Amino acid sequence: MSFTANRLLLFGATGDLAQRMLLPSLCALHADKLVAEDLQIIGTARQDFDDAGFRNFARAALEKFLPADRRGSMGTFLNRLHYQPLDANDLAGFTALSAKVGPIDDGLAIFLSTAPSLFEATIAGLSAGGLTGDKVRIGLEKPLGTDFQSSCEINDAVARAFPEDRTFRIDHYLGKETVQNLLALRFANILFEPLWNAAHIDHVQITVAETVGLEGRVGFYDGAGALRDMVQNHMLQLLALVAMEPPANYNATAIRDEKVKVLRALRLIDPSETVTGQYRAGAIIGQPVPGYDEELGKPSDTETFVAIKAHLDNWRWKGVPFYLRTGKRMPQRKTEIVVQFRHVPHSIFAGKGARSVPNRLVIGIQPEENITLSLMAKVPGLDRDGIRLREVPLDIAMADAFAGPNKRIAYERLLLDLIEGDQTLFVRRDEVEAQWDWIDGIRASWTEHDLKPKPYAAGTWGPSASIALTERDGVHWHE
Ligand code: BG6
Repeated sequence: MSFTANRLLLFGATGDLAQRMLLPSLCALHADKLVAEDLQIIGTARQDFDDAGFRNFARAALEKFLPADRRGSMGTFLNRLHYQPLDANDLAGFTALSAKVGPIDDGLAIFLSTAPSLFEATIAGLSAGGLTGDKVRIGLEKPLGTDFQSSCEINDAVARAFPEDRTFRIDHYLGKETVQNLLALRFANILFEPLWNAAHIDHVQITVAETVGLEGRVGFYDGAGALRDMVQNHMLQLLALVAMEPPANYNATAIRDEKVKVLRALRLIDPSETVTGQYRAGAIIGQPVPGYDEELGKPSDTETFVAIKAHLDNWRWKGVPFYLRTGKRMPQRKTEIVVQFRHVPHSIFAGKGARSVPNRLVIGIQPEENITLSLMAKVPGLDRDGIRLREVPLDIAMADAFAGPNKRIAYERLLLDLIEGDQTLFVRRDEVEAQWDWIDGIRASWTEHDLKPKPYAAGTWGPSASIALTERDGVHWHE
């Protein structure tokens, strides 16, 4: 049912995500008049705040995390905020929460970012408190389980109160402008699609490199690791957008139908096609940083780096490797997709001594948003000693091409879509399950072969085995 909610209930309202992303995003949407005048935002968490206390808390978060030029209407934004303390394990507390939320006949959107152990209790509480029904939709923030089985349990618990068309699973990468731009690049241009297949593409690389380390998330991260924290969700979504067939329409069903087919075509990985690593002390941009085990305070077998050579068993991608890598404490923050095309079938310039390099498309997602297509061009000259060719970039910096619009936080888009009920950029249950299925297969093979992460120095691109993973195919990671 389509409706725009005029109540937004934020679980985890005092948490890190709320401070860094959710409150700043909502304030920015308010400043740009993108949310209805009557939208009320109710925060809940364990902390014992009243409305005024929460507003002060929110003000501090906004001053810290929202650029000053987007804070114009902070005062009126804060008036939208309300707060109700809640222990999710206490069923009775949901009656008070429901009273605080008030009438929901015009629509309620819930944003649930909570520890997995509290999911079932929270859903039961929402049902008991009357905070479910046709006019309520729910957004779910990761982690949604740690494997296929636990993700099914969470999804089943949610499904008891919310049907799939009112369940919005968040992958914040889908809220990023450049990620959405992948669809425009592929499907609003005729240039690429005829070449976008195994006949013309040699391989694809997807890199998500971070310079940060544990960031104090000791409890969570050590139980997750890079494969589950980054590959299971963000990287597989990027892969699905790169590899999917053209959907017939830009809508939630058409796009998600195509993504899930890709995810189901992922081949079970042989352990020799994965490399894992864990950072040791080193330096990031000249600053010394401790090793993972030192930050954690004990030795651990959790991987902070993973590289995978993935394959899609379908017609379009037969024989095209997708090299994925992600890691903490890499030399630079960089998310990018590299599409490496094949050689021209026959070089007419070979007899003239010219060497030609196959074309490459690099899609930079962050920190810089840019698209670079490398093309061969003739070096100017009279060519008495033969023809020389050189690779030249066709470069689009999105920031220059679209100067003007504010760079938005991914959650601005996602919160607005949740409030208005557009599921296109949210992950459907069958996608999540296909993702977990593949990830579980990798983890099972690591366990079977007793694979442990190899150490790498902070500030490097991971263990040397990651380089060997591509080099043995004659491929270099794009750096
Ligand atoms: C989160 C992971 O989902 O994504 C974090 O849990 C990671 O470990 C973060 O740092 C990266 O997001 P972004 O938007 O900074 O690339």
